[in-house]
Amino acid sequence: MSTIVVGVSGGIAAYKSAELVRELKQQHHQVVVAMTEAATRFITPLTLGALSGQACLTNLWDMSNAGGVRHVEIGHQAEAIVIAPATADLIAKLAAGLADDVICGLVLSSTCPVLLAPAMETNMWNAATTQRNLATLIQSGRFSVIGPDSGGLASGHVGVGRMSEPPMIAAATRRLLKKQDLAGKRVLVSAGPTREPMDPVRFITNRSSGKMGFALAEQAALRGADVTLVAGPVSLLTPPFCARVDVNSAQEMLTALEARVSDTDILLMAAAVCDYAPKEIATSKLKKAQLGATPSMTLQETPDLLKSLKPKKRGLFIGFAAETTDVEMHARQKLSSKGLDLIVANDVSRTDIGFDSDFNQANVYDASGLRVSIERADKATVADRILDDALRLQSQPR
Ligand code: CTP
Repeated sequence: MSTIVVGVSGGIAAYKSAELVRELKQQHHQVVVAMTEAATRFITPLTLGALSGQACLTNLWDMSNAGGVRHVEIGHQAEAIVIAPATADLIAKLAAGLADDVICGLVLSSTCPVLLAPAMETNMWNAATTQRNLATLIQSGRFSVIGPDSGGLASGHVGVGRMSEPPMIAAATRRLLKKQDLAGKRVLVSAGPTREPMDPVRFITNRSSGKMGFALAEQAALRGADVTLVAGPVSLLTPPFCARVDVNSAQEMLTALEARVSDTDILLMAAAVCDYAPKEIATSKLKKAQLGATPSMTLQETPDLLKSLKPKKRGLFIGFAAETTDVEMHARQKLSSKGLDLIVANDVSRTDIGFDSDFNQANVYDASGLRVSIERADKATVADRILDDALRLQSQPR
């Protein structure tokens, strides 16, 4: 549990801060809200205090229960500060190093990273002074910026200046708290099933929710990687900071991966690719009257994606083996037959992990045997452990 300060300055987007505070609390962080006097005109300290679970800091003169100056004490505890909305005025004060309001005082009395989510009118955003102040803050190395987005503004105009949406700000805050050990790496992830059509309304497919692949993409992006997620048909939201390419069939997935693999440092092949596809695809719906009671269908093999991608391989290839019997044996056979660097094996006969579940348990093997046994945990944690091992392997001399 990290201590995060949410600084709210006085702009109409302050109403969205309530959602940001809620989102950060749901992620089990300890949240303390600091508000400028102007912010209290847009949203009450009662609302944000109730959502954060503790009284908001609204001035520089509050003392803590321990008798210290509260904003200084909180500044020392803070692991990240996110200022949302960050007005042009607050950005200017931060750039000048002023400390005459509670947010500026808190920023100056702390050393943790600060994320700014600017929100203001388009001309204010474009003003040379605002841009110069932001550049000063970014160059200091302590401040980063998310947004602003374009869209409808409080002025009634449409343009740049809208504060980023709270889920994006929350994701950027989580990224701030993570080690950026995948910065500069290109990570390619495949996820979900493929669909092989037999006619315009039917297909064969594999069982896969895509959750493990999406968790890998999300964690890699939060650790600073440049992530492309090639997704089969799944009903999951694109993880923050990931580029997404949607595909249907195994052939489409291959084409999407082929275009990127030679530029990739780590390929995580979590997709459940169909091994067979109907040989003929009917152009109109197959009717029961034509098919009869015991229809049969000729299938043909789809390409093995990992094997097809091998000639273009530059970085690590990590495969996945979802097995119901002899998990280790099958996984290690696949590792060698597909020429993988690592294989992540899990037992999908278990009902407490794997398919559709938010949890997983896995073992990671290389050619010499078991490297890591990852105990049952939520898929984000399992994803992080897999990425840890991939990084460990990449840093070993080979
Ligand atoms: N895979 C692939 N191309 C396929 C099938 C699977 O690249 N046509 C990849 C999967 O994404 C996974 C690994 O190979 O990373 C193992 O997939 P799996 O379905 O377990 O293995 P198969 O090769 O299909 O073998 P089997 O069906 O006999 O278990």
